[in-house]
Parts: sequence; C-alpha cells; structure tokens
Amino acid sequence: MPDILVIHGPNLNLLGQREPGHYGSDSLQDIDAEMAELARDQGVSLATFQSNHEGEIVDRIHQTLRDGVDFILINPGAYTHTSIAIRDAFLACRKPFIEVHLSNVHAREEFRRQSYLSDIAVGVISGLGKDSYLLALLAAISRIRTPETSR
Ligand code: DQA
Repeated sequence: MPDILVIHGPNLNLLGQREPGHYGSDSLQDIDAEMAELARDQGVSLATFQSNHEGEIVDRIHQTLRDGVDFILINPGAYTHTSIAIRDAFLACRKPFIEVHLSNVHAREEFRRQSYLSDIAVGVISGLGKDSYLLALLAAISRIRTPETSR
C-alpha cells in the first residue's frame, strides 16, 4: 500500500535524451531510483507511474480512492497547460498533491505559465531539475506526518 504516488506525464519517459538543456541528463529511471532511496531512508512507501495518455493519468488518480495513497506528486508535463480532465480528477478525489516541473516553466514560452493545476495544488516546485522531485518528496513526507498541513 503506497503512502505517496509519483505520476510522470507525457514524454517524461524520454528524460535523459529529451531536450537536456531544459530537462537535464538523468533518465526517469535515475530520478525514480533516487526518490525510492530517499523514501526508503524516511520509512515511507512510494509508487511511481508514467503515462503518455491523459485518460490513463485520470484513471490512476481515481485509483487512489481505493489503494491507500495519501499524497501525490505529479509532473503533468504538457497536460499542465491543457488538461481540465486531470484538474477535475484531483477535485473529484480530493487527494493533496504537489505539482512538479524540472524546468522553470515561468522562464520559457508564455503558454507554459498557464497551469490548470497550480491553484488547487498544495504547492508547486519548478525549475530545480531532479531536485524539484526530491524536494517535493520531502515536503510530501512532512505533510503526511502532520496531516493538518496537507491542504
Ligand atoms: C515540464 C514542463 C512542461 O511545460 C513540459 O511540457 C514538460 C515538462 C517540466 O518538467 O519542466 O513536458 O513539466
């Protein structure tokens, strides 16, 4: 039963090869392995999920109503800027989440400044590369330990 779920959205399976100037040279497997190690050290259980498909991400969010996940970290990739369906899934399931971006979305094209999730997220971490995920994980762990700060 995972405590924390990490959802990686579209094209993040190509990390390491994909636009390294924006996204760095670590692969998704490298990032997941570092998060798994940090979670183990902190005594929490972590599940990860990657999909290139909006509906699969919506389904995975719905599944958290049944699988005991307390907190979600999500890098929605380009769906950040387009997906009302993912926003509605979070509103329906009422799971606290942190929005994570490797790149600084505010320092890029104008369309990346728009997020359908930021205003309903516990917080947003953007622009710190792999550290965006690791810092989000530490914040999630702290919040599941003191749930009154979760929302
Ligand atoms: C991203 C930023 C998005 O704008 C982009 O579409 C991505 C990755 C990031 O991690 O910096 O796919 O979410």
